[in-house]
Parts: sequence; structure tokens; C-alpha cells
Amino acid sequence: MFGRPSSNSFLLSVTSVVLVGLFCLSTLQTVEGVQCYVCSWSPADSNRADVCTRKNFSESVRTHSCETGCETVTVFDKNGRLDFFYRNCAANTSSITGTCVNETSKAITKEICNCNSNYCNQSSGLEQQLGIVLSGILALLMIQF
Ligand SMILES: *[C@@H]1O[C@H](CO)[C@@H](O)[C@H](O)[C@H]1NC(C)=O
Ligand SMILES: *[C@@H]1O[C@H](CO)[C@@H](O)[C@H](O)[C@H]1NC(C)=O
Ligand SMILES: *[C@@H]1O[C@H](CO)[C@@H](O)[C@H](O)[C@H]1NC(C)=O
Ligand SMILES: *[C@@H]1O[C@H](CO)[C@@H](O)[C@H](O)[C@H]1NC(C)=O
Repeated sequence: MFGRPSSNSFLLSVTSVVLVGLFCLSTLQTVEGVQCYVCSWSPADSNRADVCTRKNFSESVRTHSCETGCETVTVFDKNGRLDFFYRNCAANTSSITGTCVNETSKAITKEICNCNSNYCNQSSGLEQQLGIVLSGILALLMIQF
């Protein structure tokens, strides 16, 4: 295909489709935010099964669309025992790091992990992005040939 008179405009079209795809993607991220799991569990909930903690997580839990990102928070008591665990929208929108930090006070330690990908799942987020770009290129190829 290279060397044909149309190859320049072809490359130009591919570039613009990729750019438009990326633009749509960034709009999606800012307008619709990300999907997050919403659930909680405490060992004190003797009458409720745990479907929320990492050890016993079930993907059937409720999800919610969140503006900035998701977080999982583990609260340990002062003896280091699990006190409470929850997943929700990120509370601190100014510190989406994709990692975990511990906030320790006299009585408790809070481990806060956050992310800005759907369900805190980087790989599926990337797959979605690739999917959008690839389908854009595919659509273009079908128009061109
Ligand atoms: C973990 O999940 C299973 C079902 O997936 C449930 O039967 C069990 O009670 C849960 N464990 C706890 C501690 O709630
Ligand atoms: C939010 O995160 C920023 C940056 O890490 C931090 O300085 C600030 O204290 C946090 N705010 C709350 C309410 O935790
Ligand atoms: C936070 O503290 C808990 C309990 O002491 C520990 O298990 C965990 O590894 C710590 N996490 C980080 C990111 O330091
Ligand atoms: C993350 O994505 C992979 C592959 O799409 C999937 O198998 C896994 O269950 C996901 N994990 C969560 C926590 O959603």
C-alpha cells in the first residue's frame, strides 16, 4: 500500500481516527468516571456473609459509577485485627495514586488503596482502550477499501 498516491491521506486518516478514539476515551473517563464495587464487611457482622474482602470477594456485589476513582479501605484495630473493610468511590479525590497507604492513628490503622480504572482493574481498562482504538482503525479500513 505504501507508494500509492493515497498512502499519505490513508496514514492521515488512521492518525485522526486514533486521535479521535483517544479523545473519546478521555471524555469517557472524565464524564462517566469509573465503575467501582460498593460493599462492606466487618467480622462483627456475624449474621452477614463476607463477599467483600479480598479473601472472600464475589464479583456479584453492587457496583456504582464514581467520578474520580475507587478505593478499598481496611480498618485494623490497635492489635492489628481486621475491624472493618469496605469498597466504594474514592473519598479523597486529590490523591488517586493506584497504590495503598496506611494512615495510623492511636486506635486504628486504615489501609487505603485507590485507583482510577474500572473496578480497580488495570488490565481490563487497557483492554477496553485498545478495543476502542482498534475498532476505530477497523472501521476506517472498511471505509477505505
Ligand atoms: C465466603 O463466601 C462464601 C460464599 O462465596 C460464604 O459461604 C462464606 O460464608 C463466606 N465467608 C464468610 C466468612 O463470610
Ligand atoms: C487527600 O490526599 C492529599 C494528598 O495525599 C492529602 O494531603 C490530604 O490530607 C488528603 N485529605 C484527606 C481528607 O484525607
Ligand atoms: C498497613 O498495615 C497493615 C496492618 O498493620 C499491614 O498488613 C499492611 O501491609 C500495611 N500496608 C502498607 C501499604 O503499608
Ligand atoms: C480483572 O479483569 C480480569 C480479566 O478481565 C478478570 O478475570 C478479573 O476477575 C477482574 N478482577 C476484578 C477485581 O474485577
